Amino acid sequence: MTLHDQPGTKEWWRGATLYHIYVRSFQDSNGDGHGDLAGIIDRLDYLEWLGVDALWLSPTMPSPNKDWGYDVADYLNVQDDLGGLETLDRLIRDAGARGMKVMLDLVANHTSSAHPWFRDAVSSRDSEYRSYYVWADPKPDGSLPNNWVDDTGEVAWTLNEATGQYYLHNFLDAQPDLNWWEPRVHEEFRRIMEFWYERGVAGFRIDVANGLYKDKFLRDNPVNPKAVIYNTEVQGRYGIEHKYNFNQPETHGLYRNWRIEAEKYDPPRLLLGETWVSRVDELAPYYGNGDQLQLGFNFPLIFAPFEPRALAQVVRESFESFPAGSATVWAGSNHDLPRMGTRWAQGDEDLLRVAHVILATIPGTYALYYGDELGMLDSDIPTELQQDPLTKGELNGQWPRDNARAPMRWDESAGGGFTTGSPWLPVHPDADVNVEREMSDAASVLVLVRTLIALHARHLAGSAKYTELSVDDDQWTYRSGPLVVVANFSDHPVDVPGGAGAPILTSRAVEVNGQVPAKTAAVFTDPT
Ligand code: GLC
Repeated sequence: MTLHDQPGTKEWWRGATLYHIYVRSFQDSNGDGHGDLAGIIDRLDYLEWLGVDALWLSPTMPSPNKDWGYDVADYLNVQDDLGGLETLDRLIRDAGARGMKVMLDLVANHTSSAHPWFRDAVSSRDSEYRSYYVWADPKPDGSLPNNWVDDTGEVAWTLNEATGQYYLHNFLDAQPDLNWWEPRVHEEFRRIMEFWYERGVAGFRIDVANGLYKDKFLRDNPVNPKAVIYNTEVQGRYGIEHKYNFNQPETHGLYRNWRIEAEKYDPPRLLLGETWVSRVDELAPYYGNGDQLQLGFNFPLIFAPFEPRALAQVVRESFESFPAGSATVWAGSNHDLPRMGTRWAQGDEDLLRVAHVILATIPGTYALYYGDELGMLDSDIPTELQQDPLTKGELNGQWPRDNARAPMRWDESAGGGFTTGSPWLPVHPDADVNVEREMSDAASVLVLVRTLIALHARHLAGSAKYTELSVDDDQWTYRSGPLVVVANFSDHPVDVPGGAGAPILTSRAVEVNGQVPAKTAAVFTDPT
């Protein structure tokens, strides 16, 4: 155990604010155009000022970067160009000294094809590591093992000529899927997690958390022609349902084991799943009976349209269906999706402010994606400058993920204060959306988000109760712990519930006199 562990803070994530850093886009410290860990250390003043409790870093482990770190070649180290292991140790220590924890991204669904396990596995059917991956013979007529497609919409199988079998990849062919039916894979990851826990890592965001196990018989997935991307029908993307390559029941036993390990530490380590499912009833099982993941990202909320009834429904169903005492986590953006200012608010700053108020005032953990606190919208990065092989040029109809990964703007200079070199992706084009300007403007989105984080910490840490008070096409009013929130999505005023006095916060500078003005959210202390 290390000094910065702050023992005794059990369930520190409950009601905390997590800050999601896409490391390559946050702060470059050495002019190579890529953000790095020393850059984050340089910006700890800012993060402390903002008031966040923990940082979740996008992948930091050595990788050929076919998918920017989501293709790991060594689970027990840190990429050199991010600063190496000793810089991560320093970040954990320096952030800890300011009361902030550091979480890593754990990619357990697949490795890089450059990982020594895979290199060995492809060498022969008798390789020591062969069973670490998912292999299948061609069908007797020589055709593919089954109809699975990967995340790019292409065939999920690649033939390894040398051994005459196909290996499975749910993402790029450079990301071979691990075989979680192999007990040795479990043992490897137990050691990997222990290695990082012992270094003071506060927990993991688990990549593709609902995908680790695959059907033992590798059965064909059901064909579903209603393929839709990036809304609630994600499971039907590319015309094939993900019935047998995601959400397999065995995954739950794995998380029960991981939870036992995580709770051996003081404070307990956090398992936060990338539980990419489309419905709340598919998410609830990952909470188990309080014995699997402590938190699972709520993709049904992320994919809900920005309308009061739709959002309220997801929140209601979540509180109704998660096991008693569960913690919840709310996010509006991440590195894979259009930013919430663009996707939900369609560039309307007033609506983006309403979204921030909602995410920060529903009881639970508030997961903020870097730059959203400034009101950053998506960039429109030309195809030739895009760096994401999975979505470059809208590959297979996928929205280019780089648009939500533009480097942070710290000031209005050409490099945005992000780099003195040539940035790996163009810095965010809106020069006004920058930390320096917004810090000194009391009416900025940044100051609103900072105030919300403080309000969240003060009133919603621990287990606050959620009660829906009213919802219609215009507004959503709810009680959250000691607060009452009125979120008005419409372009006309809505009534404030009886007895509420003056609000303690409004999403923008407006008068609230018995009515909350158009496109505004207001927070009151509970009058009852
Ligand atoms: C997750 C990550 C995404 C990555 C994929 C494959 O969905 O969030 O960025 O491409 O997994 O690892």
